[in-house]
Amino acid sequence: MSDVPNITLNDGNTIPQLGFGVFQIDPEETAEAVTEAIRIGYRHIDTAEMYGNEREVGEGIRASGLDRGDVYVTSKLNNSFHDPDDARRAFDTTLSDLGFDHVDLFLIHWPLPTLYDGDFVSTWKAMEEFHNDGRARSVGVSNFQIEHLERLAAETDIVPAVNQIEVHPYFANDAVREYGQEHGIATEAWSPIAQGGVLEDSTITQVAEKVGKTPAQVVLRWHIQRGDIVFPKSVTPSRMQGNFEIFDFELDSSDMDDISALDKDEDGRTGPHPDTMDKVPS
Ligand SMILES: NC(=O)c1ccc[n+]([C@@H]2O[C@H](COP(=O)([O-])OP(=O)(O)OC[C@H]3O[C@@H](n4cnc5c(N)ncnc54)[C@H](OP(=O)(O)O)[C@@H]3O)[C@@H](O)[C@H]2O)c1
Repeated sequence: MSDVPNITLNDGNTIPQLGFGVFQIDPEETAEAVTEAIRIGYRHIDTAEMYGNEREVGEGIRASGLDRGDVYVTSKLNNSFHDPDDARRAFDTTLSDLGFDHVDLFLIHWPLPTLYDGDFVSTWKAMEEFHNDGRARSVGVSNFQIEHLERLAAETDIVPAVNQIEVHPYFANDAVREYGQEHGIATEAWSPIAQGGVLEDSTITQVAEKVGKTPAQVVLRWHIQRGDIVFPKSVTPSRMQGNFEIFDFELDSSDMDDISALDKDEDGRTGPHPDTMDKVPS
């Protein structure tokens, strides 16, 4: 269990490098999935207001019997709440739905540069309040491009602790990752196995055969060795277990290079582009 390394963030807090994501888990299934993940050994859960299952994440953590402080919890501000007053209300609701007095990490889910007159700066200033009052131990962003991060650097006080972005072998997203490395912003890689889309790639299946691991374990290990934080989602207990067992082997540099060479740049992106994403729930 203790094999999962901690990453130290720019505010001094630490985050387990491997966690459990709950995107697209039905609320009815979420508490049980979270309890099972914790039983396996996961100590980091990634949810969001948008996923509609914060309440059940809280229930699952309480049902595990662990202390709140033993589980790292991330949630995210939904796209409809970027106005600072809405953000304040939404953060209160996130905490009350989770049933906790704080989250370990709170993120702006998307920058939405085409909405709110392009103003994600005042949203970030509200996030700084949540950090300063202690209810968000760390604050960060998600799906921010370099120009969005540069704008925060120029106009606000706190450097985001993390940037949660799409990263997997078909979409390495290295320019944004490198900006993060240079500015003390940890990268969290979402859809780390591209929702299963990279698992049948012959390069990956060949490495998996060579090292005696599953394709998913190989891809997750590739992320870990690149230094990113990952939280694969699964509702299948055997996959949840396998995805957790990635600290008893290593990929050599040629395996790492072969997997990195699968990058298709923008053609490999599976989710929305952050510059144009403008979906706001009604
Ligand atoms: N910030 C953002 O905008 C954003 C966007 C997307 C995701 N995320 C976060 O990132 C987390 C992970 O991303 P994701 O859920 O999109 O995708 P993912 O973790 O890359 O893949 C999940 C999919 O792969 C399957 N799977 C999991 N482990 C497997 C294994 N060992 N072998 C074969 N198939 C396996 C799962 O199926 P089963 O469940 O049926 O087993 C599920 O369909 C999310 O849960 C969420 O927390 C954030």
